[in-house]
Amino acid sequence: MIKPVGAITRGTTNPNRLRRVDNFVAYRCGGLLRAAADPLVIDLGYGATPVTAVELRGRLATAVRADVAVVGLEIDPVRVAAARPYADPPRLEFRRGGFELAGLRPVVVRAFNVLRQYAEDEVVAAWRQMTATGAVLVEGTCDELGRIATWTVVEHGEPRTLTLSARLSDLDHPATFAERLPKALIHHNVAGEPIHELLHAVGRAWESEATPFGPRQRWLATCRRLRDEGHPLVDGPARWGRGELTVSWPGRAQE
Ligand SMILES: C[S@@+](CC[C@H](N)C(=O)[O-])C[C@H]1O[C@@H](n2cnc3c(N)ncnc32)[C@H](O)[C@@H]1O
Repeated sequence: MIKPVGAITRGTTNPNRLRRVDNFVAYRCGGLLRAAADPLVIDLGYGATPVTAVELRGRLATAVRADVAVVGLEIDPVRVAAARPYADPPRLEFRRGGFELAGLRPVVVRAFNVLRQYAEDEVVAAWRQMTATGAVLVEGTCDELGRIATWTVVEHGEPRTLTLSARLSDLDHPATFAERLPKALIHHNVAGEPIHELLHAVGRAWESEATPFGPRQRWLATCRRLRDEGHPLVDGPARWGRGELTVSWPGRAQE
């Protein structure tokens, strides 16, 4: 048996917590999954209950392809045992595993609220291991109810993009994203760092675009302004309208 790589951490989760990232996975990875001979997705670190893995499978089956398979991997054997009654093989299974992915070769890995509990210097090794067989990794962090989230897409060990996503009716100010940044960025939100400049620019644009037409229009105008200012947005109004914004990975000043 392959030894799972990683450590057991808190298992907090909630129904519907990951709906924003589920929708993004369908959008960003839908083409890859449709083209795949074996459309396997891993939900790594699903937590104390398997609810978000069950939801991921349901959403991808509806939005992408009916035969998509999701394997929930957990490093905690107690959580694997607790999830088994919810399995529906071969479309939904639960197994013990860690960053080595239990020897599976998925098309996509979703790892949410996992690396935030690790040390920052463990992140790159985990990214590399999860993408070693060519999977696209969607790795990020959100609040307890999934109203504010950020994530990165990692390919071949390299972060490609950063996405900010929020339920706009609850978004007082984009500064809130700072509390939920992926582990690789959260300690670098200080003057002189690209992520600090980016969040500052999003905040300035949001402040400039106050409108009587509600938070969705305000967010759309914020995103348009950022694009016009030359920020490296890689998405457009269809995603902005969902309270999402994706930019090229901001990197770090010392890189
Ligand atoms: C906070 S829960 C996240 C649950 C769910 N993904 C969510 O976002 O709601 C983190 C889970 O990741 C698991 N975990 C931590 N490191 C892991 C690893 N290397 N491989 C698999 N699971 C891991 C922990 O045991 C824990 O159950």
